[in-house]
Amino acid sequence: MIAIGSDHAGFPLKEEIRKYLDEKGIAYKDFGTYSTDRADYPKYGAIVAHAVASGEYEKGILVCGTGIGISIAANKVKGIRAACCSDYFSAKYTRLHNDANILCMGARVIGGGAACELVDVFLNTEFEGGRHAERIAMFDDIYDGKL
Ligand code: RB5
Repeated sequence: MIAIGSDHAGFPLKEEIRKYLDEKGIAYKDFGTYSTDRADYPKYGAIVAHAVASGEYEKGILVCGTGIGISIAANKVKGIRAACCSDYFSAKYTRLHNDANILCMGARVIGGGAACELVDVFLNTEFEGGRHAERIAMFDDIYDGKL
């Protein structure tokens, strides 16, 4: 199950992504926002990040105007590796090397077609593990004050 969310700027692209997930038969929960009325991206970044960090949702997708603010918010939550991507290579390699668990995109940066391609590769690429797993473990060292 995928958790998705956006602020007002990201709402139109989130709607396109929802349509894509529906067409592909991919289960998701939409945590809002549900209109173009002003909505603060840290709130939605946090809601989706907590949903993924809890283990209840396998991965997340977040959208704001740039994809950056909402990724910064999501990355404040321990266990979250949110990657802001606008190209296919980054969306693929952030899964292979970073085991990213949230894909963030900017509705003012990329169109619906590209976004859905990124969603597709992000959801269908497995983490490589190995040496990359040791680096992922080091993220927790930062939270624990060891780095
Ligand atoms: C909202 O105007 C905009 O600042 C927000 O969607 C996002 O781009 C922030 O990073």
